[in-house]
Amino acid sequence: MRVLLAGGAGYIGAHTAVALLEAGHEVILLDNLDNTSAVVADRLEQITGTPVTLVVGDATDDAVVERTFSAHGPFDAIVHFAAHKAVGESTQKPLDYYANNLDSTFALLRVGLAHGIRSFVFSSTGTVYSNPADLPFTEAGTRDLVELSNPYSKSKLINEVVLADVQRVTPDLNVTLLRYFNPVGAHESGLIGEDPRGIPNNLMPFVARVAVGSLPEINVFGDDYDTPDGTGLRDYIHVVDLAEGHVAALEKAQPGLVSYNLGTGRPVSVRELIASFEKAVGRELPKVVAPRRAGDLAATYCDPAKADAELGWKARLGIDDMTSSVWTWQQRNPRGYDS
Ligand code: UD1
Repeated sequence: MRVLLAGGAGYIGAHTAVALLEAGHEVILLDNLDNTSAVVADRLEQITGTPVTLVVGDATDDAVVERTFSAHGPFDAIVHFAAHKAVGESTQKPLDYYANNLDSTFALLRVGLAHGIRSFVFSSTGTVYSNPADLPFTEAGTRDLVELSNPYSKSKLINEVVLADVQRVTPDLNVTLLRYFNPVGAHESGLIGEDPRGIPNNLMPFVARVAVGSLPEINVFGDDYDTPDGTGLRDYIHVVDLAEGHVAALEKAQPGLVSYNLGTGRPVSVRELIASFEKAVGRELPKVVAPRRAGDLAATYCDPAKADAELGWKARLGIDDMTSSVWTWQQRNPRGYDS
């Protein structure tokens, strides 16, 4: 299968490119390099031994997508990773988030459908649920749009609605909505990984920066939650497992609309994640308890049974695989791709 990866040079896109190439598929990356580096294409070549084409351009622009299809198509499928993803920033820049995260879908759909794609796989998020009463989250019911706390999550849910409406009038099209939980980890080579710009917002890259000495201490945001050790519980999923979920979704794609949770279903606390990272590093890391972060839930985790039953996919890797691979990546690339 020949697959266009929009946002393919980003963190999840790059790992998915490896998984697809290793499964014998062909990929073309389209990325505006807004939050990643062109170096990723070289790293993918090193990992897979396959030449990798990266088109630098914006997936929100029909003309760019059209040129990509003309030069590198036909494609059987599009996987759409190209989005702004910082929750806090989305509350400050809602218009940027809605415009970017929706215009990219519109352009990819318009051009892709005109060229006869058979499948459209969309990067959605576990934050479309977020009602603690529903734990563990199944695919059955997303939260009402107005109840979601931020424009990032809303932009993802609006995309899901758009895609469902388009699929309804395009019955031969497969639309697969993949709802990611907390992707962490890196390819075992240490050549690709998460490279957030500035001070990371998310726990794993923050811990990695403390471990490598570029940040002074970890802030544990609240230790008085109603959880076994008082810290927040999340469903961290190794990005390599997540990438394989995309391969399974593409290979099993049938006409119709379908959604899958991609997570492990095993919640891990902030303290457990830090302890696992400390084991990988071989020493204790400086940490302090800080106030709860506004908007955080005590616990989020999914029921991943549907993906197992229908795609034959389930997460294989555990928290120690996640932390040790991040440590390998961080040591080899202490300043990310600019190292
Ligand atoms: C965040 C995003 C979510 C996105 C996900 C991707 C928010 C509110 N949500 O989820 O939309 O899909 O990342 O992985 O940003 N924590 C600390 N110290 C830190 C950072 C985090 O203790 O420095 C704690 C948090 O309170 C939480 C856990 O670690 O309990 C995980 O936080 P984080 O990695 O930011 O992910 P989420 O908030 O779950």
